[in-house]
Amino acid sequence: MNIDFQELMNKAKEAAQTSYSPFSRFAVGAAVLMSSGKIYQGCNVENSSFGLTICAERCAIFKAISEGEKEIIAIAIYSPNSDSCYPCGACRQVMYEFQGEEEEIQVVTENLGALEVKNLSYFLPCGFRI
Ligand code: THU
Repeated sequence: MNIDFQELMNKAKEAAQTSYSPFSRFAVGAAVLMSSGKIYQGCNVENSSFGLTICAERCAIFKAISEGEKEIIAIAIYSPNSDSCYPCGACRQVMYEFQGEEEEIQVVTENLGALEVKNLSYFLPCGFRI
């Protein structure tokens, strides 16, 4: 599949605009490209009961999976409140769950304005699977 990483990052930036983050004031957006070719967007959604917060990445991934999607090809993550926003450990493991057999998931981030693309195994070596 021909992947437009910049387009995916633009969608993550757009998604960050709907972030509900009144407690941390740290907005995050994510955009996930699935094997169907469709892109799903997500943002972090916080709660007064802090532990109920969902990260942007898992929001986007669960939207995709609940619509019948099977495999993640690439995922972009962005925060307007940080020079570089990398996925948390929980989200890395959730990404791994939906990695296909053939190709590693491409994780797209921005570091001081420069686009970075890395394999998921860079962020999560030896991921757990049953
Ligand atoms: N957050 C994400 O959305 N994704 C991550 O990978 C790291 C953290 C959110 C959760 C919380 O709403 C805020 O960032 C501060 O931790």
